[in-house]
Amino acid sequence: MVDYTIRPAIPSDGAFLADMVVEAANWRAGVNRPRPTVLADPVYRGYIAGWQRPADAGVVAIDGDAKPIGAAWYRLFAADAPARGFVATGVPELIIGVRPLWRAQGVGRALMRALTDAARTAGFARITLSVEHDNFAHALYRSEGFSVVETGRDRDTMVRLLG
Ligand SMILES: CC(C)(COP(=O)(O)OP(=O)(O)OC[C@H]1O[C@@H](n2cnc3c(N)ncnc32)[C@H](O)[C@@H]1OP(=O)(O)O)[C@@H](O)C(=O)NCCC(=O)NCCS
Repeated sequence: MVDYTIRPAIPSDGAFLADMVVEAANWRAGVNRPRPTVLADPVYRGYIAGWQRPADAGVVAIDGDAKPIGAAWYRLFAADAPARGFVATGVPELIIGVRPLWRAQGVGRALMRALTDAARTAGFARITLSVEHDNFAHALYRSEGFSVVETGRDRDTMVRLLG
């Protein structure tokens, strides 16, 4: 039995969300980019810089000691400063990560569901994300209702309708 709960993200979660961005950057076995290198990349930094802005929202999974073990959040990007999964102004982009010890136990799927519920409640009609072709998370996203809307050299942009 996996013992965790999900709560809304708060401004003081910024450092943990940065950890999750580093996890996402290092998803591939054998790749280990140091935290400062990942966070110096403007695209990765853009997912967490200034957290929490008024339009940002997220959910954090915590263990029995209230320590964060995973998070999913969304953020809006402008057309002249897009991140990786940009499709249109006003469509938030989802980012997700789970600490290695807690993976493959349902936490990621539960976070995705909680976040898409939050985005729907906030009035968004769509949510987008970006994933590399060979990341298993691709299958997770498809099974949660995301479809590929754009295919790049290494990555796909996937969108889910929230209606
Ligand atoms: C991607 C990630 C957020 C998924 O969270 P998770 O808690 O591990 O996922 P879940 O346990 O909810 O599993 C979701 C589905 O993926 C499958 N899955 C989980 N780990 C897997 C693995 N290593 N290989 C293949 N499939 C896997 C599960 O079987 C599950 O499907 P099921 O419900 O049909 O069994 C998490 O693994 C992670 O942080 N990975 C590293 C960073 C990353 O890749 N982020 C995404 C960048 S786009």
